[in-house]
Amino acid sequence: MNAENLAKANDLLHRFPKKSSALIPLLHLVEDEFGYIPEAEVQVVADLMGVTPAYVEGVLTFYTLFHRQPTGKYLIQVCRGLSCQLNGADELSRFLYEELGVQRNGTTPDGLFTVEEVECIALCKNAPAVQINLDFYPNVTKEQLRSFLDKAAKEVRSGA
Ligand code: FES
Repeated sequence: MNAENLAKANDLLHRFPKKSSALIPLLHLVEDEFGYIPEAEVQVVADLMGVTPAYVEGVLTFYTLFHRQPTGKYLIQVCRGLSCQLNGADELSRFLYEELGVQRNGTTPDGLFTVEEVECIALCKNAPAVQINLDFYPNVTKEQLRSFLDKAAKEVRSGA
């Protein structure tokens, strides 16, 4: 954890009556800094909280929003909840897998895109829905995804 996040972590630990209540926010700090939760950071978080690494691992394996491996610059999460399934989510996932040449939870060799299928992201009324990094997209079509992939790849190639 860098110095800035370490300071934030110590601040967080003082906000909760029990240190263990700060676990999820601490893991978010790590995920934001590294893009995933490296093994060494599990120990750092455990030490900060005064718990065992196994305790931290137990929480990590329960919450799918944390990643144990590096993800691509763009993390594309296709909702696989019922509303989205009924409105074409499978087709969107298949499109992304074929277009990017990856499998589920896979990352392109250039490290640009990771594709995941996730549980409901609370846009059921506008299914199918996709989340890309921190942005949510309702009523997504394959054409919109193609346009996003092209734009993102172009931006990266031009160094934007
Ligand atoms: S089922 Fe996809 S957003 Fe809820």
